[in-house]
Amino acid sequence: MIIVSEPLALVTCYDYAFAKALDGVPDYFLVGDSVGMVVYGDLDTKHVSLETMLLHTQAVCRGAKITPVIADMPIHSYDSVEEAEQNAKKFKDVGAYAVKMEGATPATLKAVSKVWRTMPVMGHVGLTPQWLEKYEVQGRDPQAAESILKDARALEKAGCDWIVLECIPTGLAKKITESLEIPTIGIGAGPHCSGQVLVLPDLLGLYTDLDAKFVKRFADLKGQSRSAVESFVRDVRKKKFPEEKHGFR
Ligand code: KIV
Repeated sequence: MIIVSEPLALVTCYDYAFAKALDGVPDYFLVGDSVGMVVYGDLDTKHVSLETMLLHTQAVCRGAKITPVIADMPIHSYDSVEEAEQNAKKFKDVGAYAVKMEGATPATLKAVSKVWRTMPVMGHVGLTPQWLEKYEVQGRDPQAAESILKDARALEKAGCDWIVLECIPTGLAKKITESLEIPTIGIGAGPHCSGQVLVLPDLLGLYTDLDAKFVKRFADLKGQSRSAVESFVRDVRKKKFPEEKHGFR
């Protein structure tokens, strides 16, 4: 079991350059299927293939020498117990420390309980974008809240090592966190979870398509990147770059 002494901080990561630059800073990198939206410009995460996730996971693992890498299993890559097991092993082969699966279908639960013996598994309840059409807060009415709590307990029982709680009311996230022994990782779930995860381009202020309430922008990478490239373009046009020192004799 993973024991948490201080809140865990996770960020998503999709490539070698960021993995290398940020290695050792967060507790875990999550190669999220949000790659579909923030890297490929899809409108949701439902079109990400297993091959895409394996390639991005491999790239992140090459750059991450200290921070363990958790890989999101994309939609339909764990529909059956056999698929879940086989595909989780593929993530292990490219260097992932653990895998994450969304939802709490019986198939997922069975898959999780089989796979977790060979590698840690992260569950995901609340807003599970692989299975929902609309991105909105989940578990607002008592019945829905009860069902999310039940799913979280079932995932813990099935052998999950952490559970992501996405976009659920703060009170429900607190209740789930208090009723589980494994750590909960919140995103849009308030401050009472055992840890937090954010999508890296969101927290860096690089991807601004979804202006979600729960995101805090810790930097303005979009602004900084634009101004750096504007400077480059200006210098090239004014023949200030390259200088003699940038050339070869
Ligand atoms: O794909 C992703 O980035 C995720 C996080 C939002 C938890 O699943």
